[in-house]
Order: sequence, then structure tokens, then C-alpha cells
Amino acid sequence: MAPGNSGGNDAVIQGARRSEQPHGILIVDDEPAILESLQLTLGSDYRVFPAESGEAGLAILEREDIALIITDQVLPSMSGVEFLERAMEIEPAAIRMMLTGYADIGSLARAINEGRIYRYVSKPWEPDELRLNVKRALEAHDLATENVQLAFALADANARLRAENVYLRREVERKYAFDRLIGSSPAMNRVFEVMEKVAETDATVLIRGETGTGKDLVARAIHYSGPRRDHRFVAQNCAALPDTLLESELFGHVRGAFTGAHVDKKGLFEVAHRGTVFLDEVGETHPGMQVRLLRVLQDGEIRPLGCSETRKVDVRIIAATNRDLLKDAEEGRFREDLYYRLRVVEIELPPLRERRSDIPLLAHRFLDASNRKMGRKLMGFTNAAMDRLVAYHWSGNVRELENEIERIAALAGDAETIGVDMLSEHIRGAAPAVDPRAGDLPRGLTLNASVDGLKRRMILDAIRETGSKTRASELLGIPRQSLQKMMKRLGLKD
Ligand SMILES: Nc1ncnc2c1ncn2[C@@H]1O[C@H](COP(=O)(O)OP(=O)(O)OP(=O)(O)O)[C@@H](O)[C@H]1O
Ligand SMILES: [Mg+2]
Repeated sequence: MAPGNSGGNDAVIQGARRSEQPHGILIVDDEPAILESLQLTLGSDYRVFPAESGEAGLAILEREDIALIITDQVLPSMSGVEFLERAMEIEPAAIRMMLTGYADIGSLARAINEGRIYRYVSKPWEPDELRLNVKRALEAHDLATENVQLAFALADANARLRAENVYLRREVERKYAFDRLIGSSPAMNRVFEVMEKVAETDATVLIRGETGTGKDLVARAIHYSGPRRDHRFVAQNCAALPDTLLESELFGHVRGAFTGAHVDKKGLFEVAHRGTVFLDEVGETHPGMQVRLLRVLQDGEIRPLGCSETRKVDVRIIAATNRDLLKDAEEGRFREDLYYRLRVVEIELPPLRERRSDIPLLAHRFLDASNRKMGRKLMGFTNAAMDRLVAYHWSGNVRELENEIERIAALAGDAETIGVDMLSEHIRGAAPAVDPRAGDLPRGLTLNASVDGLKRRMILDAIRETGSKTRASELLGIPRQSLQKMMKRLGLKD
């Protein structure tokens, strides 16, 4: 029987149902007396099908569900071994036994060794011994069938698991990709919108942004959430290698292309076949390289160094730069045609200081990560500390913020809250940015009353923050006596 590949479970169920009826045994012998005697021995426990010739036996095999075949060694028109060979083609799972009147041990041994015969029975036989042998043979049959069924079920389960794994991996990658990118500012939401649209396509993307704004992260997110996600994402920093090495890295080379090229080497454009190549700092490429890149973008072709033929490649290109490439193009430092080929879609990552509302979210996420990494139990930031983080200029953008939080966590000991005093000195000094155009200045108060209100809030904050008037006065940048006097005038108790 052949378990269908529609599902291993079906096969197992089918097998169980079958085993409810007695096993079928085919007996083949040209002597009616022998058939009769075998039927007598086995007929009460099994369904026994007698056949007087090999041909008749094969016909029964085609029709019936047979688990065991017992055949005479010599049949009218074929030998017992020949018959078993043909029987195997019809019902390979049936166990085969042979009756033998005389001991031609040589040919029997061969048949046994070749696996065509499970065992032979010499005539005349002991009925009890035969019954026992048949029972064992059928147990072997059931075990083998069950094994086949289990193997099918296993293969089926494996295939399902594999499919599930691919799916899960995709989900994880997709989540990984988009989840790691944090931001809820309008500026970042615009970025996410473009990313989602462009991820589904093959369009070349140019990501622009200052250092540490997340260009790398965005490139990965686009790759891992698009149709190329099951193929590779390879990143190459174009500023990191000398010209020839960069060319060989990206396009590959053949042996002897330059000193030191001892063997052929595949370039990243070929390695990333059907995936994505991320060209980081593309603005730093030299003119020769720019021509080669243009060729990939225009014709989908590369030519390894030292090789005379071109090769087709299927890659998506994402490039990043922190330069103003348009200006570079206008001033002749970057090929204009390449610039336009690269910026089919342009994603501009705003510097962190232009999306300050993302800072608390990012700071908390980095704090969680640091807690986990360093086994800290920091719960959060005091308002004053968060104000400083929000106010700071962050020229190194998100990376600088991440590093700052890690630094704080490393030095935090068992503190639970991050206060101003734990911030780096230059950040501690950041004055809360007050945008004179912002509309949230107090209204309906005299200037003096407003200023007093602000002073009150800042003093209280500083004292709560630092826990002492001396440290608060330092934080506020005024002498301690002035602080004391000011508190008295403003009606603040110690
Ligand atoms: N929006 C974001 N959400 C979470 N983490 C971010 C975000 N942007 C950047 N990061 C983190 O900041 C660090 C710097 O990001 P990334 O390497 O992507 O910046 P980059 O723009 O490629 O910088 P560079 O120009 O220096 O290569 C990384 O650790 C990254 O995980
Ligand atoms: Mg980068």
C-alpha cells in the first residue's frame, strides 16, 4: 500500500482501519494437497487466498490486500524466486516466504540475502511452527508498514514545519525590521509611509541623513519587509576601502586581475542575487566606480575585474549618504546621471533635533535595552533629566542618544531613576529650547509674574532633582545665597 502524500495522518488512519480485518495471505503451490493443508493451518486466523500457478497468484495480488506470500520453490511456468520478483513489483510491502521440498541451500541463501525472501519453510512442516513463523512475519510486516507510514507522517510534518519556519522567520524579520525603528513624530511617520510603499517595489532608494539618523536601519527594514526578504541583504561601506578593493568587493575579480588576486572571487552584486545591495556612503565613490555603478543600475550588468565578459545581476539597490549629493552633482563631484538613477525614491531622515518629540520614546527604549543587557533596574528619568535630553542638540543623532543612555546605565549602580546629575556634563548644560514662535507662553500675566512662575518651577525642579540647595544652585547656575533669597521672595519654603 502506498500512503498518499496528501497527509501523513490520513495514511496512519488508513493503516489502522485495515489492520482491523485479518491479514491477507497468498499461498501459491501447484499441488492442491499442499494448498489445502496450508489453508487448514492458517485459515482460521487469516484470510487465505490459494493459487495453483504463479499467474493466478499475481492476479490475486492485483486484487487483494496481501500482507504475506507463501510460495512453492518450483511452480509450473516459473521458479518461486521469479514469481516473488514479479510479486514484489505489485506489492513490495508483502512479506515473502518460500516452501522448499529439497534443500538447494545455495539458491535459497542467495534469495534470502538479496532480501527477496523473509524465510523458508521446509516440507513437511510442523503446523505450530508454521503458525508461529507466519505470526512473526506478519508482525514484521506491520512494523515495516507502520514505519513507512511514520516516515511519511514525519516527512509531512517536517515539510509543514519548514514552511512554518520560513513564515515565522519572515514575520520576525519584518517585525525586527520595522519594530526596531522607533518614532512617532510626524517627520518619522512620513518616513514610515514612504518606506512601506517602496518596500514592495524594486525601486532604487537613496537614503539621506546625518550620521546616526538610522540610514542603516531603514535600508534593512525596506529589504526585510519586501519581496526580496528571503534573499540576502549585503551592505558595503563605499568609504571603507581603497578603490580597487572596493571594485573587487562589489564586482568580483578573476584570478590575476591584480596583485594578490590568487583566485576568482564573486562580487557582492552576485552574492546578493535576488536580494539587496546596500551601498553606504555612496557619495564617497570615485569617478570610475560611479561609472560602474551606473552600468549596474542602467543595464543590470556587472563585469568582474580582469574579466572580459559582463554578467547579468538581479539585485535591488539601496544607497545612503550623509552628503548633499545634489550639490555634489551640481559642483561636479558626483555624476549627475548616477545621482538621478539612485534617487528614484529619496528618503530624508530628519536629524533628531528636528523631531525632539521622539526623544523620550527612544530614550526609554534604549533604557529598557540597557537594563536587560547590564542587569540594571532603572525605571526612568526625572522630568528635569528628560528635559535636558530633549533640549540637547544631538549632533550624533540617535546613535549618540543610544550611547549616552548606555553610558548612564553602565555607571548607574543600583539607582532607580536617572537624574540630571547622571547625564554627561555637556548634556546637563543643555538649556531647554524655547522656541520664541511657540504659542505656549503664559498669557494674561504680567511679564514679572510669568518670570516668577518660571523661576518657581525651575527652582523646585532643581531641588527635587538634586536633593540639596547647594547642588540645585549649581544646576541653576546661581550662587547659593541668591537661590536662598530668591526662594524667600517667591514664598518657597525650605
Ligand atoms: N529610529 C530609530 N529607532 C531606533 N533606533 C535607531 C533609530 N535610528 C537609529 N537608531 C539606532 O542608532 C544607531 C545608528 O543607526 P544607523 O547605523 O542606522 O545610522 P546611520 O544613519 O547609518 O549612521 P552613519 O551615517 O553613521 O552610518 C543604531 O544603533 C540604530 O539601531
Ligand atoms: Mg550607517
